[in-house]
Amino acid sequence: MRIAIAGGRGFLGTPLSQVLAADGHTVTVLTRRDASAAPASPPGRISSARWQPDGPIDALASVLDGVDVVINLAGESIAARHWSAAHKSRIRDSRVPTTRSLVAGMKMAASRPAVLINASAVGYYGWRGDEILDETARAGTDFLATVCQEWEQAAMDAADVARVVLIRTGLVLARDGGALVEMVRPFRMWVGGPLGSGHQYMSWIHRVDWVDLVRWTIRTPAATGPINATAPNPVTNAEFSGELAHALRRPSWLPAPAFALRLALGELADALLLSGQRVVPARATALGFRFAYPDLEPALAALFQRH
Ligand SMILES: NC(=O)c1ccc[n+]([C@@H]2O[C@H](COP(=O)([O-])OP(=O)(O)OC[C@H]3O[C@@H](n4cnc5c(N)ncnc54)[C@H](OP(=O)(O)O)[C@@H]3O)[C@@H](O)[C@H]2O)c1
Repeated sequence: MRIAIAGGRGFLGTPLSQVLAADGHTVTVLTRRDASAAPASPPGRISSARWQPDGPIDALASVLDGVDVVINLAGESIAARHWSAAHKSRIRDSRVPTTRSLVAGMKMAASRPAVLINASAVGYYGWRGDEILDETARAGTDFLATVCQEWEQAAMDAADVARVVLIRTGLVLARDGGALVEMVRPFRMWVGGPLGSGHQYMSWIHRVDWVDLVRWTIRTPAATGPINATAPNPVTNAEFSGELAHALRRPSWLPAPAFALRLALGELADALLLSGQRVVPARATALGFRFAYPDLEPALAALFQRH
């Protein structure tokens, strides 16, 4: 198959494109950067095409012409100390209008892609305590929840011409990037512990499972609409801290008080660290997807095992 991945050079897109290329697909990564400086890949299977998310649609349509599957991972990182109004605009504008452009490009392509797999996030559900959330749960009302809803609606505009999958991703665990790198730091310095009350739920997924889940949605016609990309067993922040400490052979003893996190990170502290969601992958499980890492302890052990 021919697969185009917008934002495919990032933390999730890089391993995904490599796995898809190794499966024998031809992958085109859409990037705003110099397309010639692409990372090494299986010869001939991954190429890059420069794009402007707010550029002319006909140029995008010709890149997408003859592509079978479009995967949209593009978006400004939400991790920034203190969200300014400008950063919040970039978080939204790099997702919602970008997705609209991709959908318009898909519709204008002479030979249209049949599948759109669009990133979304468990932030869709907002802050929900210990309520168990499957894909039928209502959306939240905070900033990230609102962005996710607009983002998903923009993707669903392709539903009249393509199968649309909305990947509501949780906290993706890998050793070489993402939030885990920051979470590990205090533990390595012997000052790790739960954040705030520690009661907030964390819906996590090992990156190997995330890549495999996206790959599975490509070959599973019944996979449509929202799919939670989270392990079947979310944990509280206190449990996560305990398991992380165990994997790193460090203690989990020093709680980071909520007021200190708010002082350091502002709104981001509440949005990402002090609140949470208890999300379960009901759709993927019902459709037969098997997680390699359903439980946190083996997932962290695999990431931090001594070589
Ligand atoms: N990682 C997680 O734990 C997680 C959790 C939930 C949801 N997600 C979502 O999954 C998607 C991929 O995540 P990731 O961790 O791989 O992110 P990432 O490493 O930051 O990669 C995202 C890509 O988006 C492109 N991008 C950045 N700013 C942009 C902008 N202003 N306009 C258009 N494109 C822009 C970049 O590609 P170029 O510079 O090459 O153009 C970048 O490589 C994101 O939308 C993210 O919100 C991730």
